[in-house]
Amino acid sequence: AAVLSSRGILKDKKVIVTAGGTREPIDPVRFVGNRSSGKMGYAIAKAAAKMGANVVLISGPVSLPTPQGVRRIDVETAAAMRDAVLSEYDDSNIVIKAAAVADYRPKQAAVHKIKKTGDSLVLELEKNPDILSELGQHKQKQVLVGFAAETQDLLLHAQEKLTRKNLDMIVANDVTLPGAGFNTDTNIAKLIFRDGHIEDLPLMSKDEVALVILNKVSQLL
Ligand code: CTP
Ligand code: CA
Repeated sequence: AAVLSSRGILKDKKVIVTAGGTREPIDPVRFVGNRSSGKMGYAIAKAAAKMGANVVLISGPVSLPTPQGVRRIDVETAAAMRDAVLSEYDDSNIVIKAAAVADYRPKQAAVHKIKKTGDSLVLELEKNPDILSELGQHKQKQVLVGFAAETQDLLLHAQEKLTRKNLDMIVANDVTLPGAGFNTDTNIAKLIFRDGHIEDLPLMSKDEVALVILNKVSQLL
């Protein structure tokens, strides 16, 4: 019923969704990565397209099919994701950053495959740009939505990110709860808004969470 009643609510809106994890090269055959499956972001992209939006899905490497009616841009690194997001940002109405962006990258990717010569190996990492903070600083008309996956002090951390990144809403989830972790088809989310109000969602499929998120976002437009 939620799908039917929300049909068309995002007509003529451009929605950018980022999904999946980034990969930061160590050498030609290795990378620093994370456990993001991309499922939450892909569910949002699919639902937004069904609601009539013009959807751009900027995706890290995942093993999921491109949802129907969605334009997909594949990226690997945080730097490439930043470039893609910024090139699509100006005329967008909604940005939903479900991607798990690597916070750090190897300072230098080795040109050749690293050989196991020593008994230990130290990788020096440097900070990646914070894409969402940058979007928040240059926000025009956009509704900006972030995600916060935490293992402790969920609300505290999520609220701090909402403020620091100048977001309109943040989707917070405690990844230690069964049914809310990485690679699951379900999620247990709290939606936190600028005015401080919080909506606690029960265990839901990621498709259902996507519908709730987009319905809330459409009210913030
Ligand atoms: N994010 C981003 N660019 C980064 C890091 C994070 O755009 N370099 C976005 C994520 O896509 C997510 C939100 O910021 O929507 C929060 O990500 P999170 O990793 O929880 O926040 P951080 O600011 O990286 O803080 P920390 O990892 O220390 O908790
Ligand atoms: Ca992070």
